[in-house]
Amino acid sequence: MALYNYLLLVTFVSFIVLLEAHDQSGFFSIDCGLPDGSRYTDEITDINYISDVGFVETGTSHSIDTEFQTSSLQSQFNNLRSFPQGKRNCYHVQPQQGKGSKHLIRTRFMYGNYDGQHKTPEFDLYLGVNLWDSVILDNETTIITKEIIHTLGSDHVQVCLVDKGRGTPFMSVLELRLLKNDMYETPHDKLTLIARRDVGSISNISVRYKDDAYDRLWTPRQFENFTTLNTSLAIDQSGNNNLQPPLIVMRTANAPRKAIQYINMLLEPKDPKGKFYIYMHFAEIVKLQRNDTREFTILVNNEPMEPTVFSPRFLFTDTISNKNPVNGSRIEISIRPTNRSTLQPIINAIEVYQVNESLQSPTHQLDVEAIMKIKAMYRVKKDWQGDPCVPRDYSWEGLNCENPPRIASLNLSSSGLSGLIDPAFCNLTSIQKLDLSNNSLKGNVLDCFAYLPSLTELNLEGNQLTGLLPPKLLERSSTGSLKLRCARPLKSLGYFEESNTKRATI
Ligand SMILES: *[C@@H]1O[C@H](CO)[C@@H](O)[C@H](O)[C@H]1NC(C)=O
Ligand SMILES: *[C@@H]1O[C@H](CO)[C@@H](O)[C@H](O)[C@H]1NC(C)=O
Ligand SMILES: *[C@@H]1O[C@H](CO)[C@@H](O)[C@H](O)[C@H]1NC(C)=O
Ligand SMILES: *[C@@H]1O[C@H](CO)[C@@H](O)[C@H](O)[C@H]1NC(C)=O
Ligand SMILES: *[C@@H]1O[C@H](CO)[C@@H](O)[C@H](O)[C@H]1NC(C)=O
Ligand SMILES: *[C@@H]1O[C@H](CO)[C@@H](O)[C@H](O)[C@H]1NC(C)=O
Ligand SMILES: *[C@@H]1O[C@H](CO)[C@@H](O)[C@H](O)[C@H]1NC(C)=O
Ligand SMILES: *[C@@H]1O[C@H](CO)[C@@H](O)[C@H](O)[C@H]1NC(C)=O
Ligand SMILES: *[C@@H]1O[C@H](CO)[C@@H](O)[C@H](O)[C@H]1NC(C)=O
Ligand SMILES: *[C@@H]1O[C@H](CO)[C@@H](O)[C@H](O)[C@H]1NC(C)=O
Ligand SMILES: *[C@@H]1O[C@H](CO)[C@@H](O)[C@H](O)[C@H]1NC(C)=O
Repeated sequence: MALYNYLLLVTFVSFIVLLEAHDQSGFFSIDCGLPDGSRYTDEITDINYISDVGFVETGTSHSIDTEFQTSSLQSQFNNLRSFPQGKRNCYHVQPQQGKGSKHLIRTRFMYGNYDGQHKTPEFDLYLGVNLWDSVILDNETTIITKEIIHTLGSDHVQVCLVDKGRGTPFMSVLELRLLKNDMYETPHDKLTLIARRDVGSISNISVRYKDDAYDRLWTPRQFENFTTLNTSLAIDQSGNNNLQPPLIVMRTANAPRKAIQYINMLLEPKDPKGKFYIYMHFAEIVKLQRNDTREFTILVNNEPMEPTVFSPRFLFTDTISNKNPVNGSRIEISIRPTNRSTLQPIINAIEVYQVNESLQSPTHQLDVEAIMKIKAMYRVKKDWQGDPCVPRDYSWEGLNCENPPRIASLNLSSSGLSGLIDPAFCNLTSIQKLDLSNNSLKGNVLDCFAYLPSLTELNLEGNQLTGLLPPKLLERSSTGSLKLRCARPLKSLGYFEESNTKRATI
């Protein structure tokens, strides 16, 4: 997909550096592969990066080839974490604000021949259980940046890398930025960034934090054959604009050379069913003569946007966006002067997002909490990463699920479990088959097993369990509704025969 311009303008950035104070609360800045406990402040951006240890359980740390560790390369790309094991590996971040909060999530990748193979991999990126995008790196120094705006459906964010058999997945940077809930408001919980342009910039460097309080990346865009307008004056960012594009971005704009020309921008989505939101930012940055008017109409696929006639306010940011998403294989944005306009139309900045639908629902929260507790409690050594059931192809080893995603069977036979049976097993309320055989479990068989409504098979053989079997459980076993397996035949009396030893072993 490309954002083209066919009527097109140039800029200088001569401005007073007037930084507002923005702290980094609501930021998670993770430099993947950085040694445990390390942290640093990036010299250019002043962003505080930390190691990824604690956000990921798997993978190995690497440095890129020294050949590429140049002074012009941002430090975050010097290290990375690769995932040679398992089909899916996940980062897990728990932002303070939790469920319902809106975050910009950014992942970045640079291969840099870290493995000496001179072979760039291709892999998939997932946000939780849904495909976010594919990561395809052209060459060793290509930097890929993927950004998504996401309203959290739970208290955590899971970013997963999936091995497609085309090289080992890795990640260089993971960043989360808390947004305000009234920013980029749509009925959708995920918007992927297609383009965010600082129109009229003549710099070759993207604007980000601290110029942007939310650390969005604005890439310079100079429309060919367009005029560049610039100002060094302050532009009001407050007012009614909750998106707050950075001052430095708003201080430059492009305009066609002649007053009668249009600004036309074309978007050609790969997926014609894709749905897009377009945010255009305007501010008048030229002091107009009394007899001058700059006024235009914005059309998206020939449909006028509200307001139908718009005149940018002097040194004041206004944003115009579509209320309903636009689609099609060819999306044309046209900014046309009205008949009474004496000046060309302008544009200072533009953002385009694509709706990323959630095609899959995650596993029921109760099951997730229970299985996570079991995983932690017994330090289960299996390929247990990301969501337990979804997507089906990557569901956890030893468990089966039903739809909507609930855990229907769990096989932890011969898995080195030791200690007591955790009550969390009884929170798997849809479970039909539970196999805990051949471990070192001790203590009592839980009463609550008898009340798992769907349980039809329970195997506890080969453990060091003691005590009485719950009568209700035996009752279910004797009526045939539950297939209960233990090491020795069960007596209908409801307890295990105690032999010479004080303890009975199931
Ligand atoms: C900014 O615009 C003024 C005219 O308004 C022009 O003289 C100047 O060269 C421009 N500066 C840059 C850096 O584009
Ligand atoms: C690497 O790929 C990028 C595009 O992703 C390209 O701009 C760059 O020129 C390429 N570099 C080399 C050394 O081939
Ligand atoms: C960016 O521009 C500066 C001068 O404005 C130049 O020194 C530098 O080489 C440029 N960088 C790239 C990557 O083009
Ligand atoms: C810019 O102007 C030149 C000369 O008039 C022309 O050849 C070129 O096609 C124009 N580029 C665009 C993108 O319109
Ligand atoms: C506006 O007035 C100026 C002189 O003040 C003149 O040069 C210019 O042509 C006028 N513009 C229009 C559109 O009438
Ligand atoms: C855009 O979507 C609507 C409804 O979702 C559909 O009817 C229409 O055909 C789509 N337009 C294009 C150009 O695909
Ligand atoms: C603008 O001018 C064009 C042609 O000169 C005319 O067709 C159109 O109706 C005018 N629009 C308005 C809003 O006056
Ligand atoms: C969005 O999600 C769909 C599947 O849910 C995926 O195919 C697509 O690549 C994703 N990315 C974008 C940019 O839409
Ligand atoms: C659990 O897995 C073991 C092999 O690891 C297998 O022998 C056993 O039959 C499985 N249990 C169930 C209930 O499928
Ligand atoms: C029991 O588990 C151990 C490893 O924990 C394994 O070596 C052994 O083969 C298992 N026995 C049976 C009967 O599955
Ligand atoms: C089972 O789930 C409930 C919430 O539904 C929770 O309060 C309880 O702590 C869980 N029990 C265990 C042992 O995890």
